[in-house]
Amino acid sequence: MNPVKVGLLGLGTVGGGTVNVLKRNAAEIARRAGRGIEIIHAAARDLDKPRICDTTGIKLTTDPNEVVNNPDVEIIIELIGGDGLARTMVTQAIEQGKHVVTANKALIAKHGNEIFALAQQKGVMVAFEAAVAGGIPIIKAIREGLAGNDIQWLAGIINGTGNFILTEMRDKGRDFDDVLKEAQALGYAEADPTFDVEGIDAAHKLTILASIAFGIPLQFEKTFTEGITTISREDVAYAEELGYRIKHLGVARHTEKGIELRVHPTLIPERRLIANVDGVKNAVLVMGDAVGPTLYYGAGAGAEPTASAVVADLVDVVRALTSDPENRVPHLAFQADALANDPILPMEEVETAYYLRMAAQDKPGVMARVTSILGDHEISIEAIIQKEPVAEGEFANVIMLTHKVQEKQMNQAIAKIEALDSINGPVKRIRMEVLDSNK
Ligand code: NDP
Ligand code: HSE
Repeated sequence: MNPVKVGLLGLGTVGGGTVNVLKRNAAEIARRAGRGIEIIHAAARDLDKPRICDTTGIKLTTDPNEVVNNPDVEIIIELIGGDGLARTMVTQAIEQGKHVVTANKALIAKHGNEIFALAQQKGVMVAFEAAVAGGIPIIKAIREGLAGNDIQWLAGIINGTGNFILTEMRDKGRDFDDVLKEAQALGYAEADPTFDVEGIDAAHKLTILASIAFGIPLQFEKTFTEGITTISREDVAYAEELGYRIKHLGVARHTEKGIELRVHPTLIPERRLIANVDGVKNAVLVMGDAVGPTLYYGAGAGAEPTASAVVADLVDVVRALTSDPENRVPHLAFQADALANDPILPMEEVETAYYLRMAAQDKPGVMARVTSILGDHEISIEAIIQKEPVAEGEFANVIMLTHKVQEKQMNQAIAKIEALDSINGPVKRIRMEVLDSNK
């Protein structure tokens, strides 16, 4: 049988990695797919730029339209990024009855609902394994491997750049900006790296994971997002003293009131495996009612780990080319007409435990006032440590861990504590998750 002809949009980190993996493993891939897979046409902005891959035998252009409109191309791989040109090209490809493979989480999280509806109408597949957690086959695991479960919650380190920065800062005391530059040089970071450090990229990915876990439409705009730029070395050290690690987590939880969808720095007990996931590695912990907790771990970014997921999607698409569209795995795991409309909870209604750090005057009665405010808001304290002030008359750092409470209560309590004369500056708050087997 003739090889399947593929068009590639983007020859950067992931595009280059994809060309390399497809070439190197061509024989194994053909044995799995049942046919060879050949990239015949590719687009990039600058054709003179040095590439990480050998493009011999591939027709090159600066115009992605030429690739999409090439009548010989059956599958389009979109690896340009963003939701402008990429969205136009993906839509155009689907309109022409071409299947699409993409690593673009921004595109899927923001426009996936309409893209999948169009794809279903046209009977084509849109595969996006590489969009979440790089090389970890997490979409397939949740969508297919856990299809028998009622998924209760999931929590993941789903941004490689952010985890790389936090790890290097903690282990080697390196500066934030310096590590970010290295992540960019290694091809981990997004075109706009604020997406990585402010949690937007993780929110894109969490949106996708929540949809396939709970069978809800993609709702990126309702995801709560807090980045890692405010995490200080002293918080990392205090957390460790208390037996915790700070990780940038995406958490999605199905509660009776609705669905929590949130990305924020989080204290996790250091004995949890996920607390020990370092560098560019990602990990996603998924709790199913039947299977219990399962953990998926691997490289979250980079050329070949991401290409591994892109090529797996290509193989899936090639295997399904002749199957009836009705019998394919649904894009969002649940049948399109069976998606639920559970509400996404506003952050004020979410319940978590908290780490609090405040600078307090070292004199009698101060702690009594703080604990009385917490008590008034039904916040109970699990642990408290007070550090010696650096010099006499200076403020002392007080660190508290609380039991679970609604975010609204905590917001009100923090506002009152910050208004006390005996408290200096803002109260630092980091949410905590125990990530045990409970709902
Ligand atoms: P790069 O910036 O490395 O590559 C983007 C490619 O698109 C480049 O080859 C660029 O051309 C090409 N391109 C951009 N604009 C145009 C245009 N107008 N016309 C033609 N070509 C264009 O990005 P990545 O490979 O890192 O990321 C690609 C996608 O994969 C993104 O959606 C990203 O979020 C996602 N992703 C990235 C991961 C990673 O580790 N990097 C991991 C998982 C997903 P040129 O090279 O000439 O500039
Ligand atoms: N910028 C992303 C990250 C790429 O660092 O995780 C992988 O999606």
